[in-house]
Amino acid sequence: MKRVSVSAPGKLLLLGEHAVIYNYPCIVTAVSQRVYVSVQKTETDFLEISAPQIDLYDYKKKVKSLGRSTSKNARFVEVAVKNFFQKYNLTAGLKIETESDFSAEFGFGSSSAVTVGTLKALSELFAVKLSQKQLFDLSYKTVLDVQKVGSGFDIAAAIFGGTLSFTAGGKEIEPLTDENLPLVVGYTGIKADTPTLVMRVAKLKRQYQKIVDHIFVQIGDLVNDAKKALLVRNYRMVGELMNFNQGLLDSLGVNTENLSKLIFAARSAGAYGAKLSGAGGGDCMIALCPKSKVSAVHRAIRNKGGLPIDVKTSAEGVRIEVP
Ligand code: PMV
Repeated sequence: MKRVSVSAPGKLLLLGEHAVIYNYPCIVTAVSQRVYVSVQKTETDFLEISAPQIDLYDYKKKVKSLGRSTSKNARFVEVAVKNFFQKYNLTAGLKIETESDFSAEFGFGSSSAVTVGTLKALSELFAVKLSQKQLFDLSYKTVLDVQKVGSGFDIAAAIFGGTLSFTAGGKEIEPLTDENLPLVVGYTGIKADTPTLVMRVAKLKRQYQKIVDHIFVQIGDLVNDAKKALLVRNYRMVGELMNFNQGLLDSLGVNTENLSKLIFAARSAGAYGAKLSGAGGGDCMIALCPKSKVSAVHRAIRNKGGLPIDVKTSAEGVRIEVP
């Protein structure tokens, strides 16, 4: 039976998290670590999924009951298959295997990459032509079906790759650069739950509407300045804008002591700027550095108990590995 393999990159949010949920722009980059999805038709009535890296072995579900009572680890793949079959009026037994270059704990966007990878592989396997916009819309619907909240920035990174400016729901997706940015990433060792943090900010916004609205306006402004600075490779300015962004995220209550330790250590070691990346509450911080300071910043993060992770940014978007 024909087997299609595709890969999609993970992501890091550079600037604009949380505000992007409220229609302000953010900047996201695709990272060199990828998720691999291979899909094959079978003669059965089942969807079979195996994803050893997230401890999912031989998950099996009748194709006609997809989407109900899903296992946590299989959810994105299962709902992606269900949505694809529903939209294109198709059905078949399937065997899907996923692998990843990175741990799902890092917050590098394994769920969005696996969703995009699954839908891209299905479109190839069933010879359904999907434009990038159609792939975005179906992937975004899948992510919202599963986790209810999200701007879709991670899906855009997985599809288009590069470093992008993005507005919620994919209203605007603008490529900014394909360059590898001098970025150091530090993992706090703590897994954060994005939907919980998004809800927490929503609550704060209900309580302190005017103050939080002003914070979002400022985040939107600094993202727009950072877009211009990135285009002319003014990394010092991008770093300084990251520092502003970190202060504003702290005021939204999503910073943690662990993140702060790594962020201050990176700045002291010579980074242009450093901030948390993504929803906050744990996961990773990022530091933009002069090239000459990259190893010092790595060391500083490790000394404070963080795990430095090597990434290349502006990676290629979803691609077919074996047609
Ligand atoms: O935690 P992450 O890396 O998935 O980033 C979440 C970013 C938010 O703006 C808080 C949510 C979103 O979907 O835009």
